[in-house]
Amino acid sequence: MDVIPPARPVFNKEMEEAAIYALRNERYILGESVDKFEEDFAKYIGTDYAISVSSGTTALFLALIAADLTIGGEIITVASSYIATSNSILHANGTPIFCDINDEYLIDVNQIPKKITKRSRGMMPVHLYGHPADMQEINDIAKKNDLFVIEDCAQSHGATYKEKMTGTLSSMGCFSFYSTKNMTVCGDGGMITTNDKKIADKLKLLRNHGQHPKNVHTIIGYTARLNTVNAAIGRVQLKYLPIWIEARRNIAKKYFNILSDIEEIILPPGDTNEKKPSYHLFEIKTKKRDELLNFLKENKIICLIHYPTPIPYQPIYKELFGYKEGAFPKSEELSAQSMDLPMFPDLINDQINYISEKIHEFFNR
Ligand SMILES: Cc1ncc(COP(=O)(O)O)c(C=O)c1O
Repeated sequence: MDVIPPARPVFNKEMEEAAIYALRNERYILGESVDKFEEDFAKYIGTDYAISVSSGTTALFLALIAADLTIGGEIITVASSYIATSNSILHANGTPIFCDINDEYLIDVNQIPKKITKRSRGMMPVHLYGHPADMQEINDIAKKNDLFVIEDCAQSHGATYKEKMTGTLSSMGCFSFYSTKNMTVCGDGGMITTNDKKIADKLKLLRNHGQHPKNVHTIIGYTARLNTVNAAIGRVQLKYLPIWIEARRNIAKKYFNILSDIEEIILPPGDTNEKKPSYHLFEIKTKKRDELLNFLKENKIICLIHYPTPIPYQPIYKELFGYKEGAFPKSEELSAQSMDLPMFPDLINDQINYISEKIHEFFNR
């Protein structure tokens, strides 16, 4: 068996040709492929607008600016995520306020009311690993307290909640196209989805130095556009995304079936009537995580940890905010015990069976 990587982005001839066509025929910046990619993405997600930007982090940052976050405004988010989630709040001069996670590895909505203060401005739930957060409860709290909600959809392209795509469930959804995500643009890239025309117009200004029309700058903006060549690749990737999400769901089903007999493993949450995850990652938990990870590596199965340290315990967050271990026990437990099994659309049955065989061998030793 060859080495099984944790993730494997697809790059095919059609994508290569789309990239070359764009390079030869379009403007490098804000070319035709950018408009087309945005149209296609909005249609797929089910929003009126989609605005492409230079990364997922930039998407979150500009969304916060577009929501009029003011200096020191507090944004309630979650301790267990990629650091970009809360860094974007700091980039926008806001203050991240962390909640711990629930048993689904997502923001514990019961903790949110206790975190609301006079300075609260919004919430940023994360659909981590492709599992939709409890959006009904989050939106109810937001409405009651006059807060905005921005979804971090960096890992959740294609996941649905009550039959609606993540990215349609709040004022803005922010996606990443980093190489290992459910789809990529073969480089950095991001997208913001919204139904609000005013916000869409503002985001278009923000990503392009506030310029409209040419040489007229009405707000202070940034260089934060998605390159045309990346948009051209993204358009083709998007065409395959529904098939890839289906493949991820089938792989998850197989993992659930073949690993359910191992008592020492806690499997991730599965599908429910309300939530259809996209299984960006297939996260398992075990007290023997480090030993299992090494054993699988010795057997050419490469697994990763997302994430070994909850955000508040990163050195810079400890330094800035004085967080101490013990404040977010469930996130700590996830960081200490979780690992993700290989998950990519063309993972084949032989590989899945081999992974299962090796995991069983480890626990039967
Ligand atoms: C949950 C989460 N939020 C935000 C980001 C930031 O996206 P990017 O790497 O495109 O800036 C990522 C991905 O890296 C992520 O996983």
